[in-house]
Amino acid sequence: MAKKNTKTQPAARQILDMNAFDAETSASTSSPLLQRRIANVGASAVLFYREPLEMVSASGSWMTAADGKRYLDFYNNVPSVGHTHPRVVAAVTDQISKLNINSRYLSSVVDLYLDALKATFPASLSNVVLSCSGSEANDLALRIAAATSRGTGIIVSENAYHGNTSIISDISPSALKRRKLPDHVVTVPAPSHAGQSGSIENAFAADMTRAIAELERRGHKFSAFICDSIFSSDGVYADPPGFLRKAVEIVHKAGGLYIADEVQPGFARTGEAFWGFARHGVVPDVVTMGKPMGNGFPMAGLTTRPDLLARFCEDTGYFSTFGANPVAAAAGMAVLNVIHDEQLQDNALRQGKHITARLLDLAAKDDRIAEIRGAGLFLGIELCRPGQKEQPDAELASSVINGLKDRGVLIGAAGRFGNTLKVRPPLSLTEQEADIFVDRLEEALSAIAAT
Ligand SMILES: Cc1ncc(COP(=O)(O)O)c(C=O)c1O
Repeated sequence: MAKKNTKTQPAARQILDMNAFDAETSASTSSPLLQRRIANVGASAVLFYREPLEMVSASGSWMTAADGKRYLDFYNNVPSVGHTHPRVVAAVTDQISKLNINSRYLSSVVDLYLDALKATFPASLSNVVLSCSGSEANDLALRIAAATSRGTGIIVSENAYHGNTSIISDISPSALKRRKLPDHVVTVPAPSHAGQSGSIENAFAADMTRAIAELERRGHKFSAFICDSIFSSDGVYADPPGFLRKAVEIVHKAGGLYIADEVQPGFARTGEAFWGFARHGVVPDVVTMGKPMGNGFPMAGLTTRPDLLARFCEDTGYFSTFGANPVAAAAGMAVLNVIHDEQLQDNALRQGKHITARLLDLAAKDDRIAEIRGAGLFLGIELCRPGQKEQPDAELASSVINGLKDRGVLIGAAGRFGNTLKVRPPLSLTEQEADIFVDRLEEALSAIAAT
C-alpha cells in the first residue's frame, strides 16, 4: 500500500549539476590529476561523480580506467555505435592521412556523406549545414527561424538544454543558475500528463496555445518552438508516439517554425525510427543533430528546407572553418554505414524492450521505482520515495548512480529534480551486457535499502 505523502517537493536542479563532482564535498581532491584539472579549468570544471574517474581506453560498450577497472558505459550518448569502432577509426585515419580542408573546396567525400545523411530525412529537408557542435547547430536554427518569422519569441520545454552559445543558453532553462529566462522565452511542461484534456497530445497542444498567447501578451512575435524529440533533460518522455502532432500544427498556424533537436535521440537510438521526430509523425522545419553523428569525432549540423536557408543567407554570410571538413564526413559516413550494416536500429529496439521488461519486473518488487519511460535504448527510470510515486528522490538517484559506478556501470541522471536515471548504452549493446546492467542496478538498490 502506498505510504502517506510526507515530503514536500525538492528543489529543481540543473542538468550539468547532476552527478557532478563537487570540490567542496569530495574526498578525492588529493588526486594530483584532479588538482591539475581544477587548476587548469577552474570554475568551468564539469567532471562526473563524487570521485571523478580517469579513463585510459575504451572498446564497444566498455571503458577502462587508469586503475585497470572496466566499466560498462550506460551513459553513452556520443560513441553510440560502440567506443573506438574499428570502421570509424579506419575511416578517420585514412581520410586525415589523405586530405583535410575546409568547405570552400570541393571534396567528393563530403557530398557522398551529405547525400547519405539526407536520405534519412523527409525529402523536404534537402539542405544541410555541417558544424562542429550541437550548440552551434541550434544557434543557426534559431537564426534561421528569426530570419523567417521576423520574430524572436521562442518556446522550449521547462527543463530543456540546447547548448552553450549566448542565444542558446538563453533558451536552456536547465543551464541557468542565478540568471532567469529572458522575456522572449516561454516554457511548456514536458508532455508527461494528460491532465483534464483526455490525452497527452491534447494537453501538450493546450500548453503550446497558452505559451504562444503568453509571448503575444509580452509583445514578442512568435518565432519557433524547439524541443529535444525525447525530452531527455526533462526526464525522458517518449510516449505515446504522435503526441507532438497537434502542438506542431498549432506552432505552424501561429507562423512559427518547429525545430527538432535530435542531438540526443537521433541516429537510430529510439529503435522505432532513425530520428526521434519520426516517431511522432511530424516533419520539422529544421532538424539539428550532433553527439553520435561522428561517434566521437566532433561534428554536428542541421538540415532544413532550401527556402528557409536562403532567407537567412540573404541577411547574413555564414561559414564554419571546421564544419563540413572531409575527415568529419568520413567519420559520419562510417557511422551511417555501421548503423545500417550492423542493424543497430533493430538492436536498439530489441535490447530496449529486453531492458524495459526486466526493469518492469524490478519495479514490481521495488516501490522506489515510480516509472519506466522511453524508446529503444533511451530509457528513463524515475525514482521516488518508497511507495510515493509523486515524491521524486534525487538523493536515491545519486546514491544509485554512485553505487552502480562502484559495481562497474556508468549512468547519468535527468529530470527537473535529477531523480530519473538516464539509460543510454551504445546501440551495439548485447543482451548479456543489458543483463549485467539490470543485475547491478538491483544490487545497488538492495544495498541502499539495507543501509
Ligand atoms: C538536446 C541537446 N541539444 C544540444 C546540445 C548541445 O550540443 P553540444 O554540447 O555538442 O554543443 C546538447 C548537449 O548536451 C543536448 O543534450
